This record gives sequence, C-alpha cells and structure tokens, in this order.
Amino acid sequence: MTALTLSTAAAPGLRADAIVIGVAKGTAPRSGDLIVAPGAEAVDKAFDGRLAGVLETLGASGAEGEVTKLPAPAGFKTPLVLAVGLGSEPEKDAAFDAEALRRAAGSAARALTGAKKAAFALPVTDAADIGAVGEGVVLGAYSFDAYKQTARDGDAKAKNDKAPLAEAVLLGGKPRDAAHKAALARAATVGEELNRARDLINMPPNDLDPEAFAALAQTAAKEHGIKIQVLDEKALVKGGYGGILGVGAGSASAPRLVKLSYTSSKAKKHLAFVGKGITYDSGGISLKPAGHNETMKCDMSGAAAVFAAVVAAARLGLEVNVTGWLALAENMPSGSATRPGDVLRMYSGKTVEVLNTDAEGRLVLADALWAASAEKPDAIVDVATLTGAMMLALGSRTFGIMANDDAFRSAVHEAAEEVGEPAWPMPLPEHLRKGMDSTVADIANMGERMGGGLVAGLFLREFVGEGVTWAHLDIAGPAFNEGGPFGYTPKGGTGTAVRTLVRLAELTASGDLG
Ligand code: BES
Ligand code: MN
Ligand code: ZN
Repeated sequence: MTALTLSTAAAPGLRADAIVIGVAKGTAPRSGDLIVAPGAEAVDKAFDGRLAGVLETLGASGAEGEVTKLPAPAGFKTPLVLAVGLGSEPEKDAAFDAEALRRAAGSAARALTGAKKAAFALPVTDAADIGAVGEGVVLGAYSFDAYKQTARDGDAKAKNDKAPLAEAVLLGGKPRDAAHKAALARAATVGEELNRARDLINMPPNDLDPEAFAALAQTAAKEHGIKIQVLDEKALVKGGYGGILGVGAGSASAPRLVKLSYTSSKAKKHLAFVGKGITYDSGGISLKPAGHNETMKCDMSGAAAVFAAVVAAARLGLEVNVTGWLALAENMPSGSATRPGDVLRMYSGKTVEVLNTDAEGRLVLADALWAASAEKPDAIVDVATLTGAMMLALGSRTFGIMANDDAFRSAVHEAAEEVGEPAWPMPLPEHLRKGMDSTVADIANMGERMGGGLVAGLFLREFVGEGVTWAHLDIAGPAFNEGGPFGYTPKGGTGTAVRTLVRLAELTASGDLG
C-alpha cells in the first residue's frame, strides 16, 4: 500500500521521483486557456511564470485524468514534474471539488507505477481535500498482479517497474493539524480496506470459493477485534437457510453464511450490512451463455464491500455497532443443483418457487436479510450485483438505490454523493409485485422482465423484518470495470459501495444520518 505523509517542505528542495501538480481547463473569461492550479506556484516560478505555456506546447489541455510529464526546472531535487488534469476550473472564488482532486490524484498515482516517492502539490484547501487526495492516491496506485509471473518470480527490476507507487508526500496540508492528520489516516484506512475488497473481487473463483472467503474473513476479524460466526453447510441445514442452501446445492464448494460483529462501547445505534457473495455465478441450470459468464467472479462484490466496510469501521473505531452478513455460495449446474420448478423453504419460513436459477442473488440475500432483521438493527443496507437490468438502466458507473423508506433512501444517496460514488434512487412500484405470484409457493424468484432491477428489489423487501428500515444497493453496473482504468478506478474489481457504507456508519455514529 502506498504510504501517505504530510509535509510543508518547499517544492525545489524536496527529494522525490516526481512532483505532481494540477492543471485545468479555463472557463470564461479564460476559456480555452490552460490554468495551472494553486499549489504549483513554486514550479511555475522556476519556469519564470511560463509553466502554462510550456504545458500547452506539450499538448496539455487540463482535461480530467490527462497526464503530461516534463523535466523539472533547474535547482529542483525532483527530476520529473507530472501535470494532471483536473477538468474545468471552478467558478470564480470556488475551490476544486474533492472528487476532482480524488480522481486527479488517482490518475497521477497510476501514471507513477514503479516510482518510489512522489510529492503531490494539488490545490487542497482543507482537511476534506487532503483526505480526498490521500484516498485518490491509495486507490489509483492499486494493482492486482498476484497471479502474474513478474510478481511471482520475475527479476527485481521487472517487479519494481510494476510495483505501485510506494510513498506519497502531500504538500499544502499542515502536518501538525489534528484534522489534517486525521483525514489522512482515515484515507489510508479506507483506501487499504477498499483495496482489500478489490483483491477479493479480482481473485479467481477457483481460489475464492465460499469456504476460502469465510477463512479470509476469519483471519481479518481476529486481527481487528471483530466477532465472527461462520455457519457452514451443516449449520445452515440445521438453521433452515433454504435460500442459501438452494443456490449452493449444485456446487462442489458448500455455501457459508458469515456474520461479522463490530461493537463499540460508545455505540447508540446499530447498522446491519448484507452482501451478496456468489463467488461464481454460472447461472446454474438456467446456465448463462458464453459472453455472459466471463466476469461472473465479480458476483461476490457486495459481500466484499460489506466485509471491507466492517473492517474499516473497526479500524476507525467508529462509535456505532456494525454487523456484516456475507451470504456466500457458488451458483453451479450439476446433478444436485436446484432446478427451475423447485420450491425452496426460506429461513423466514416463506416458500419460493425457483423459476430461473440465475436469479440466485435474491435467494441468498433473502435468508441473510431475515437473519439480519432478527436483531432489529436501526437500519439494514444490502449490497448486491443483483441484476443486468440495473446495468441497462443506469450504465456501468452508477448503482441504483431502493428502499422501504424514502428518507433513508435519500440519506443513502447523499452519503454516496458525498464520497464520490455515483448512485441514483430507484422506485419499488407495487404493481410489479403480482408478477412474482406463484401457483405453488408464496412467491416466485422471477417476475416481469421489464423493470427487472425493481422486481428484484420488491422480492428482497418481502424478507425484511416488519418495521426495519432497509435500503438495497444494486451495484451490478459499477462493481466491475470492464473498460480501461479512469481516475482512481482500475480495471476489474472497483470496490464500489465500500465508501458509501463507511460514510453511513460514520454518519450513524455521529447522529447525523438523514
Ligand atoms: N449476477 C447476475 C447479475 C449481473 C449481471 C451482475 C451482469 C453483473 C453483471 C444475477 O445473478 C443475474 O443473473 N440476474 C438475472 C436475473 C434474471 C434471471 C431475473 C439477470 O439480471 O439477467
Ligand atoms: Mn445470476
Ligand atoms: Zn448473480
């Protein structure tokens, strides 16, 4: 992980591999101009105030994520200046927003792969900005190469060239300011845990089955003083968890339900997070065709996010109780698999007619939601790569939020916006419920095709305990980035929803939720 520090050192004397500065696209009356952002004054001065012109000559436009490298001016102890685009300059008298800083820091950190140490002289104005740059650096520097030959047994140089930026020194903050220090420490913790979620998502499904996931949770829980309970297949049978068992029935790797409990002696509230943890979704007997299964190792992204958020809450010592539920199963076809037409008796006692074994997420979540509800938490938030329909509706960067309480849905949306995770509220239209009426069971696991994401949300709602506030995040779109990296988002597992969950825990702890 990239180490983060604060420094007041002046740019020319600082020893590092590179100094990162910000540039932006000018807005009226400076439309068309390249703007050098505050923080880069020392560099600009060493260029006799011509830095913007020099960068323009090199083709810089200030566009978001654009990286322009140039040799540092004479007298600098840093050989390289890296100018990163922040997008459009803010309105007069306004500052660059935290998300623009987070993304720029991420793009710069990724461009510095292989470097040992870089100084970041971006336009930070307060502790929140420092946290944003710190988070952007840790998240942008991320790489997953555990399975690459270079990381395994490549020579030292090959390894080094691919290694994430080792250290980032943030300029512009105050190393002795408690708020600045706290913001940086929070960024390091959240960034590290979010990267842990990414590692889990990127891990191939032949290595990460439900049992392996539970074992990793056990290790982390022990390390961070989190109570953990793992229900194995026997315990699930005994407890009557028909949804989780039904989905896992076709796999050679048995399912698990993991309960992580972080408690604070100062807590006044209790939040429960529930994550869909399908370690591989083949579709089961309703098998997915080729072209739809290559990325289905990502179907445990919800559980990874929940896991990471609980560990982050513990490491931050938040004054709130947080319970994380990981509903882990592998959805495979076989002679023992659940068939379309089977009826499952769920943990809640309701029966479900399985019409499509590929609608498995809602089945494992239903049991976990019912288990979470039994503790009467102040709120439940579930996170799931639940439907292709949500991806069609919102695209691949935005997750949908559904809830049984409008105010809570808005609060979750606000928290997501605040941390820079694009999200959008979605409805739970009552008329879609009757499409799931079953002739043999209490409900079917499929309904109308149109509005499939909302249908799934309505199904889940039936398994939330009476009077429990609940929100559902369908992260099928943003969980896994199949395109190129952008900002602080790498290719592959993104760790989406981790920061929203952590923010919700913080807001609940401070009594500021809603
Ligand atoms: N895991 C998938 C949803 C998904 C699709 C996640 C694409 C990420 C990317 C889920 O289990 C699924 O297969 N859903 C079906 C439901 C349908 C059978 C009612 C879907 O969306 O097609
Ligand atoms: Mn599926
Ligand atoms: Zn799935």
